[in-house]
Amino acid sequence: MSDLRESLNKTREEFESKIKEITSSADIESLRVEYFGKKGKLTGVLRGMGSLKPEERPEAGKMVNEVRAKMEEVFAQTQSKMKAMESAHKLKREVIDVTLPTSFSGAGSRHPLNMAIDEICDIFLGLGYSIGEGPEVEYDKYNFELLRLPKGHPARDTQDTFYINENILLRTQTSPMQIRIMENQKPPIKVVCPGKVYRQDTLDATHSPVFHQIEGLVVDKGVTMGDLVGSLQLFAKKLFGEKTEIRLRPHHFPFTEPSVEVDLTCWKCGGCGCNVCKGEGWIEVLGAGMVHPEVLENCGIDSNEYSGFAFGIGVERTAMGRYGIDDIRLLYENDVRFLKQFK
Ligand code: DAH
Repeated sequence: MSDLRESLNKTREEFESKIKEITSSADIESLRVEYFGKKGKLTGVLRGMGSLKPEERPEAGKMVNEVRAKMEEVFAQTQSKMKAMESAHKLKREVIDVTLPTSFSGAGSRHPLNMAIDEICDIFLGLGYSIGEGPEVEYDKYNFELLRLPKGHPARDTQDTFYINENILLRTQTSPMQIRIMENQKPPIKVVCPGKVYRQDTLDATHSPVFHQIEGLVVDKGVTMGDLVGSLQLFAKKLFGEKTEIRLRPHHFPFTEPSVEVDLTCWKCGGCGCNVCKGEGWIEVLGAGMVHPEVLENCGIDSNEYSGFAFGIGVERTAMGRYGIDDIRLLYENDVRFLKQFK
């Protein structure tokens, strides 16, 4: 019994002095094997219990358990201290210098809608127009009323509107930019205004509740329908090639008089008729007309002195034709595989 106590104490003292020298988790692992392993020193001492007399065993067992618990506690403490120390070292060693240059991961590219907008605006910039921009959250007054669409006007129904309150809405067209420009600027005016517009429409291959238009406005002395036609002819040829023709169909817009819808020769078949133009040979791209005298007067411009024309181009349709895109949803899903093709 006293032999056992002695060798237990000796083992424990030796263990405690060794564990103080430990500097790594590898050291602590070999210490674990040295003392607690199958052939370890503590295990060896415990084996010695077999030679004790049966009446001595309970007390010896208690003593052994106490010493072992103590040793295991010291071991566990040292082990977690080692782990903490090593992970602190690792963090320090692996600090990343975020200011170092990295390998280039590739540039993105412009979105096809922005490409189309830029391409169209460039054509008009070349014709001496400037570019205007305005809010997407718009007053009813600008989006409808001053454009001769008073509350209750049936034509409002064709533009199913997202209202924010009775007087504020998401603009359904870029035409309110005509009012904003004319309120702030005296003629001569020559401007194109690209931007997003919103209508309550269900998303499918050809419709989206958000889309883009480019509004055009020219106001000066002696502006005629001939100027409108000439400008649009030039636009069509610059965008889709010299062979492109335009076709005007009479229409009604409350803010222009006369009003027309304008078709371009089909960009796919060149006018013979195909699946893109549904056999027509023509594709509708914009609405246009001579600015209604009342609209000029609403903005403080004397309609006896000045006249003007306006047009609204559908950007999605034009972009889809220009780049051969057959589903409008592709333009909004931001799938990189699609967008990459426009680099
Ligand atoms: N704002 C019209 C629409 O969204 C398009 C339009 C037609 C614009 C005639 C014009 C215009 O400027 O003169 O349906």
